[in-house]
Amino acid sequence: MNFGIIGCGIIAFTHASALKQLKAEGCDLYACADVVREKADQYAKDHGVKKVYYDYHDLLADPAVDIVCVCVPSGMHGQVVMDASAAGKAVVCEKPMEITPEKIARVTETVRRNGTKMQCIFQRRLMPVAIALKKLVAKGALGRICMAEARLNYYRDQAYYDSAGWRGTWELDGGGALMNQGVHGIDLILWMLGEPVDTVYGHAATMSRAIPVEDTAAALLRMKSGALCVIEGATTAYPGFSSTFTIYGEKGTVSFDDQHIIAWDFVDKDSAPPRPDLGDDVVGGAKNPIDIGIYGHICLLRDIAQAVRDGREPMLPPEEAALAVQVICAIYQSSRTGRPVQF
Ligand SMILES: NC(=O)c1ccc[n+]([C@@H]2O[C@H](COP(=O)([O-])OP(=O)(O)OC[C@H]3O[C@@H](n4cnc5c(N)ncnc54)[C@H](O)[C@@H]3O)[C@@H](O)[C@H]2O)c1
Repeated sequence: MNFGIIGCGIIAFTHASALKQLKAEGCDLYACADVVREKADQYAKDHGVKKVYYDYHDLLADPAVDIVCVCVPSGMHGQVVMDASAAGKAVVCEKPMEITPEKIARVTETVRRNGTKMQCIFQRRLMPVAIALKKLVAKGALGRICMAEARLNYYRDQAYYDSAGWRGTWELDGGGALMNQGVHGIDLILWMLGEPVDTVYGHAATMSRAIPVEDTAAALLRMKSGALCVIEGATTAYPGFSSTFTIYGEKGTVSFDDQHIIAWDFVDKDSAPPRPDLGDDVVGGAKNPIDIGIYGHICLLRDIAQAVRDGREPMLPPEEAALAVQVICAIYQSSRTGRPVQF
C-alpha cells in the first residue's frame, strides 16, 4: 500500500513514524505534498519519500498512491478528503474530521457516494483501558451510569497559537481548546458511554490567549438515560495535565488518565472484572503537541491498509467522527445564547 501525506507539518511526523513501523507489513510512505515547498522537501528528505508534490491535486493524480493521509489544517480537511475520494483514493483524515456538523455530513455523503474508504483519527480509542471500560459499560458491569467526567486540561502558550496562522481561528481550527485538543477526550468519553446525548449546557471563554476562540471551557451534558457528563477543556492549564476520564455507575467506578488507572472499584469485589494492562504506549500531548504517542496511529493506519486489501470498512469510518464535533458546536451555541441545546 502506497501512502501519500498531504500537509507536512507536526502531525505528519507521527504518520511517518507510524508508517515506518508498518513497513514490514507492506505500508510505504511513498509521496508527500505541502504548499510550502521547503516543508515538503524537508519532509521527503527526513523520511525517504519518493515523490514530492507542491499541489495536493498532483499527488491525487498519481496512480501509484493508494491511501492519502490528510494532515492539513482542520478547516481544510473536508475539501481535501472529497477531492481524494473523487480521485478514488482511500483516505485517513486527522481529527477533527471537519469543523461543523454540516461539513462532516457533506464529506460523509461524498465518501459514501463514491464508495471509497475513510478512516478518521481518534487515536485514544485504541487505549486498552478505554476499550475495556467501553465493554464494561455496554455489558452493564457498572450498572446504571450516573455520571461521567472528562477533564481535558492542556497547556498551549501564545507562541503555540502564533506558530501557524490557522491555529486558534474559527475559519480553520473551528474553535480552540475544545475543537482542537479536547475533541479527542470528548469523543472518547461519549464513545465509552455509548448512548445518545439529550441536552448540552456549555460555557466557552477566552481567558488568557490573544485568540478569537476559547482557551477555557466547561460543559454539562445530559444523556438520554439521564446520566450526567461533565466536560472541562482548556489550553490555559499550566503546565498541562494528563486527560482524566471517569465513569461512575451504581455498581462501581472506573477512572484513568494518560498513564494510570486511577480507580477500578467495584461494589461487589468478588465479581470485579480484571484490570486491563495499560500497554506501554504514551498518549501524551498535554504539554506539547509533538509529544503525542504513535500507538493509535499505527493501529489506525494498519487497519485502513487491511480494510482496503480485504474490501471491508475501516474501524473508524466518517459516521463515527461526527458526534464529538456536534457536541462541541452545541457547547459553543449554548455559550453564545446562554441556553441549553437540545440534541
Ligand atoms: N491526532 C492528533 O493527536 C493530532 C495532533 C496534532 C494535530 N492534529 C491535526 O492535524 C492537522 C494538522 O495539524 P498540525 O499541527 O500538523 O498543523 P501544521 O500547521 O504543523 O501543519 C499543517 C501543514 O499543512 C500544510 N498545508 C496547508 N494548506 C495546504 C494545502 N492546500 N496543501 C498541502 N499542504 C497544505 C501547511 O503548510 C503545513 O505544513 C490538524 O487538523 C490537527 O487538528 C492531530
